[in-house]
Amino acid sequence: MGRAGRIYRIAGPLVVAEGLEGCMVYEVVEVGEEGLLGEVIGIQGDKAFIQVYEDTTGLTVGEKVVGTGKLLSAELGPGLIGSIYDGLQRPEKAIAEALRDIFIRRGVRLNALPRDRRWHFTPSKEVRIGDRVEPGDVLGLVRETPIVEHRIMVPPGIKGVLKWLAPEGDYSIEETIAVVDTGGGEKAEVKMYQVWPIRRPRPFSRKLEPSELFVTGIRIIDYMFPLAKGGKGAIPGGFGTGKTVTLQQVTKWSHADIAIYVGCGERGNEMADALYTFRRLMDPRRNRPMMERSVFIANTSNMPVAARETSVFLGVTIGEYFRDMGYDVIMVADSTSRWAEAMREISGRLEEMPGEEGFPAYLSSRLAEFYERAGHVECLGKPSRRGSLTIIGAVSPPGGDFSEPVTQSTLRYVQCLFALDYNLATRRHFPAINWLISYSQYIPFVARWWDEFTKGEWSRFRATAMALLQREAELQDIVRLVGPEALPEEDKLALEAARMIREGFLYQDAFDPYDTYSPPQRSHAIMKAVMRFYERAREALSKGVPVSKIFSLPIRVRIVKLRTRPTEEIVKNLDSILREIDEEFQKLFKSSSG
Ligand SMILES: Nc1ncnc2c1ncn2[C@@H]1O[C@H](COP(=O)(O)OP(=O)(O)OP(=O)(O)O)[C@@H](O)[C@H]1O
Ligand SMILES: [Mg+2]
Repeated sequence: MGRAGRIYRIAGPLVVAEGLEGCMVYEVVEVGEEGLLGEVIGIQGDKAFIQVYEDTTGLTVGEKVVGTGKLLSAELGPGLIGSIYDGLQRPEKAIAEALRDIFIRRGVRLNALPRDRRWHFTPSKEVRIGDRVEPGDVLGLVRETPIVEHRIMVPPGIKGVLKWLAPEGDYSIEETIAVVDTGGGEKAEVKMYQVWPIRRPRPFSRKLEPSELFVTGIRIIDYMFPLAKGGKGAIPGGFGTGKTVTLQQVTKWSHADIAIYVGCGERGNEMADALYTFRRLMDPRRNRPMMERSVFIANTSNMPVAARETSVFLGVTIGEYFRDMGYDVIMVADSTSRWAEAMREISGRLEEMPGEEGFPAYLSSRLAEFYERAGHVECLGKPSRRGSLTIIGAVSPPGGDFSEPVTQSTLRYVQCLFALDYNLATRRHFPAINWLISYSQYIPFVARWWDEFTKGEWSRFRATAMALLQREAELQDIVRLVGPEALPEEDKLALEAARMIREGFLYQDAFDPYDTYSPPQRSHAIMKAVMRFYERAREALSKGVPVSKIFSLPIRVRIVKLRTRPTEEIVKNLDSILREIDEEFQKLFKSSSG
């Protein structure tokens, strides 16, 4: 502590210091007279390489650099929910005024969690004085917002006999709420918040299978390329293909208890936009403002580049902390490419041997360290509980070319690919997720969930729909050459059915008041109507009815337009819709056989 060195060289966000003896890699250091926050990322001889998370303009060689002996850490406790932080977890009322003038004064240290606020703490009825307590044990509750109950847990590293537990009452996070006798005459005072190094995964008891569907409310994802709770997915897409809209949709509508939105290196006005809409949004399932279960981390393009990395790891650490309470958490990062670009910039200044396209060789392992923190786990401590952290990262490959290093490295660590397609976006088919190259490795795990929910229909419908879409793609070349008229009736049927699936099911307008959110019962009801029509259509074809006649039935348009109707209406009227389909086909059979 207090070891001081001197600045030897400055290269943008990278500072080389000399004389910082005994410092460790990832130690936090204070750089210059203003004490800018930085982190040691490499040591060579007597030189320490430091990435600085604040603007280094005006810093000069010879200024002091002081080691803190600490790792870059997050404060975790009541007050997180509803916060807007920068990558260093500085709460930004400034960000709210938002992103007009993003730079918070350099070197300013702010507490991440409010110290003056008092929270109403209710001790758990399940713990008694004299009990042995361990990390993760829930000592009490704080109702942080009307929809989030913050569970105050024994922090990792503290174990022993509970000597004292605060009575119900109002406390600030600095006050002791429990005393644990850790043996050998030592006592640990537990407060309502913990400090945890952001680069280190938080412990849990064991990993569970990804067997539960993580409902995003986006049909093509949930039905065709489902995520599991605790799963990880990537959404790569070229400029303007829908990354941000999709991630915002997931944050708003997914069935998670807590949502964490990390804006990493994207435009400030987009982030301001996201905040603006979130401020007004109601959580449809709880009828409360969305901010009451969200945390925002903003590190926009006009903020220091090195802090992109801290924003990603800060987000994932907060996510794990709520997971540890037994919640389902979603974290989205927009865009991980901007983070990778920051790595490239810093690595370049370090004059490291560059890897592919100038990205450092450790790009891949750094992405792995991030995505590997997703998971569905049995949490530490009593009462026994399960929690999950699901991660979706946007990737912005230059020119939309998925063969570039960031997309390729990401795909090694995620189980779901939602591939955004420039052509679909230009044709305004949204979400522009290409169904031919996207995939989910969770299908075998969540199949049981879906099939229980749909009495086995999901597996069948999904397979049929995918086969039709693939057939459509195969036929496209022929159609381009000779036109659809030349095709056999059977193929025409496949084309028309695929079109119905695209227009009526896959298409989902994020800005439609009803279709913006598609829970599983809605998605399945729409698919069921499409599939009933398709089955009857095949029957009609086998009876010799021409495809053109089948697909001009009035009910076809009604099915395609179902997505513009409210969910309750679709679900309530499903049986009568299926009946109408049958009736229209009956009439068709009669007229064509007569
Ligand atoms: N699901 C959707 N429903 C309706 N419109 C959409 C949808 N997804 C994207 N769009 C349209 O596409 C536009 C661009 O989307 P978005 O900003 O999300 O793209 P992006 O991939 O984040 O772009 P950038 O590369 O600039 O960050 C939106 O403004 C919207 O008009
Ligand atoms: Mg975007």
